[in-house]
Amino acid sequence: MKKKLMTLFMGTALVMGLAACGGGGDDKGGGDTADAGGQKIYDQKCSSCHGGDLKGAVGPNLTQIGSKYSKDEILNIIHNGQGGMPPNVVTGDDADQVAEWLAAKK
Ligand code: HEC
Repeated sequence: MKKKLMTLFMGTALVMGLAACGGGGDDKGGGDTADAGGQKIYDQKCSSCHGGDLKGAVGPNLTQIGSKYSKDEILNIIHNGQGGMPPNVVTGDDADQVAEWLAAKK
């Protein structure tokens, strides 16, 4: 009887399920769509290093990053990387949204 192995495989498959990102009908112009978008992008791309609650892990705490850097400076860090942080973890519109969201964390 080797049922234990099966259970293990099922668990792993579930964890991998959230990889895809739902792009689509996201028109610009609204002011508050960036908020939800930024959070989502952060959760997917940044939280592994900066922590699920922004409190830091491999990377530093970002809970008050908005009082240290402007949106443009954060965008710059995202594009170029900094120290142990790799460049272009996110790009384009996603980078813009996450930078705007973080710049509001003061
Ligand atoms: C692979 C791990 C990793 C990922 C992924 C990552 N970072 Fe970082 N991040 C770091 C590390 C490490 C530093 C510290 C760099 C240094 O100054 O030595 C850092 C620094 C920063 C800083 C500057 C903090 C400060 O106080 O100077 C910002 C802002 C930042 N990251 C934002 C982000 C955003 C936004 C994302 C997602 C798009 C992200 N990071 C993804 C590891 C990561």
